[in-house]
Amino acid sequence: MVLPMTDAASKENAIQIKRDLPDAFGPRYFRLGSCAIVEARSTNLYHYKAFVGFHDVVVEAGDCVYYIGNDARSASLRRGPTRVGSHHVATVIRGYMPEDKSTTIHQGTTLPYVNACSTKQLFPPERPGDPTLQLLYMPPYTSEQAHHIHSTVRVVYVLSGRGNSVVGIGDHTVINELSPGMVCLLEPMCPHHFETGSEALLCAPLHIFSSTGRHELDHPMAYGTHLIDR
Ligand SMILES: [Fe+2]
Repeated sequence: MVLPMTDAASKENAIQIKRDLPDAFGPRYFRLGSCAIVEARSTNLYHYKAFVGFHDVVVEAGDCVYYIGNDARSASLRRGPTRVGSHHVATVIRGYMPEDKSTTIHQGTTLPYVNACSTKQLFPPERPGDPTLQLLYMPPYTSEQAHHIHSTVRVVYVLSGRGNSVVGIGDHTVINELSPGMVCLLEPMCPHHFETGSEALLCAPLHIFSSTGRHELDHPMAYGTHLIDR
């Protein structure tokens, strides 16, 4: 872990903020070899359950599971009722049941993104706003977007390479290193971005339901606010 502050007071402040971050912003990190189950918080809009590490995952009728293949170079989506053995990360999403599908993850990305990053829709949303599993490639020395927030949970699996997850506001920022096999779970409205150093980073973010441009176009607060000079 890297703390971006230099003097002792700032460091202590950062450590305090780090302690508070799980409550304030909700980032959670699981290194390779971890074993955990994370369930949607009572405040979340959509229900999910993420199984990190090896689990025998039972999926009820009406739900589905997205999971990274045991070779860590493939991904699958299965609708319930079913049962899958997962070695890396499997996420059950309640009330969404598209058809079964699988994909290898060998070809890299196809869609240009910001700051020289690029993406691929491993499993696109069936309809606007549905869950989606994406592939994100970040070349060395870049950053994914500016600092930003999402309206729904992200469960991110790190496929290869290395980078940092930067979470917080202004000076109150904590950086966690991302390494292969890690799972990074970001709560809605968690201020964050990823960045890379000398290595590229390839990861697969699962959107627990997604966003579309309509959310901004139909945003009463954003479009009912008119900035004025003071
Ligand atoms: Fe993000």
